[in-house]
Amino acid sequence: MRLFFQFGFSIFFLLVQTSLLATPRIINGIRAKPDNWSWIVAIISQGVVPVKGQFCGGTLIHPSWVLTAAHCADGETTSSINVLLGTNDLTDENREIIGIKRIVRHPDYDYDPETPNSDIALLQLEKPSTQPVIRIADRYTVLIQPGLDATVMGWGATNSLSDPVYPEHLQQVTVPIVSNTQCNEHFSYAGDVKETMLCAGFADGGADACIGDSGGPLVMKTGSGWQQVGIVSWGEGCALPNYYGVYTRVPFFQSFMTENICQQADIPPSPHLEVHKDEKSVTISWNQVKADGYQLYYAPYSKPLSNVTLDNIESLELGNRTSFNVKLTSLKVFSDQNFYVAVRAYNGNCYSDYSNLCTIMMDEL
Ligand code: ARG
Repeated sequence: MRLFFQFGFSIFFLLVQTSLLATPRIINGIRAKPDNWSWIVAIISQGVVPVKGQFCGGTLIHPSWVLTAAHCADGETTSSINVLLGTNDLTDENREIIGIKRIVRHPDYDYDPETPNSDIALLQLEKPSTQPVIRIADRYTVLIQPGLDATVMGWGATNSLSDPVYPEHLQQVTVPIVSNTQCNEHFSYAGDVKETMLCAGFADGGADACIGDSGGPLVMKTGSGWQQVGIVSWGEGCALPNYYGVYTRVPFFQSFMTENICQQADIPPSPHLEVHKDEKSVTISWNQVKADGYQLYYAPYSKPLSNVTLDNIESLELGNRTSFNVKLTSLKVFSDQNFYVAVRAYNGNCYSDYSNLCTIMMDEL
């Protein structure tokens, strides 16, 4: 199933694989370019200048909400922290500083200083930010594949834990996604990495997030922009061989985020889907609705519909196109399977209901 769609939709994977940087502070990173990451957030202690007060990162995922790690909010209250947005430079005077109205920690967050679980929290801002938001990778996304490049960024330590040096300027580094299986090898994290977590880094070490980067994002490039796949959470030391960076697996917590941040006014109407076939291809198309873009969902056909388990659903980011074409040659070579397809429209990280469900029946082609 996955193989088949990877072939059929290979254009997306080419786009996904385009990495931003050739070389890998953060540990072994480079200075981030001024306008690249306009949704990046620094979390700072109230009443301290940003360059001294920054202790975690975060991302703007809705004009009024910041995503971060729950451990970054440990011991904090709405009056002990502010967020800084709109700059990569902690000494920049041209930035937004906004107060916090509410802190929402994940209900399953359990504070274990070594391996925090469900390490995710939302900070509601006192007023909306004017910065753009980053998209959260969808829970069914096929984006996160071991070996593909991802980028982590932050104002965390650039050297080591023993004598940390903190930069004024945002740093970034490219690290490949690592499977949970590899990350849990006995010479690595030996089972501490749960399905709610994601690893990235090199077996030889050398490039990683470090202390002070927590709460910041791990992002991947798609054909229609960057998406956040992880939140800097924990790791044994920084950039050590076999001890990859461990991140909160963001798509796993999609409903926690959308249920908290999405108001009725944020949610687009759901599109209506049609499937057309000819001798050469299948075209899936839908009506345009007022939305930023669309996400395509597909699953193997089974009757009854209730046999479609959530594990079988996969999704692809489509950007603002309103149709999708699959060549039959690629379909036939790889599979005689039938599929369900549906789309959802999204505004930022808030999704419409699913469209009507359509089928692609190979035996009828
Ligand atoms: N927990 C650290 C913090 O609060 C970040 C840990 C990330 N470590 C790593 N090796 N990737 O900033």
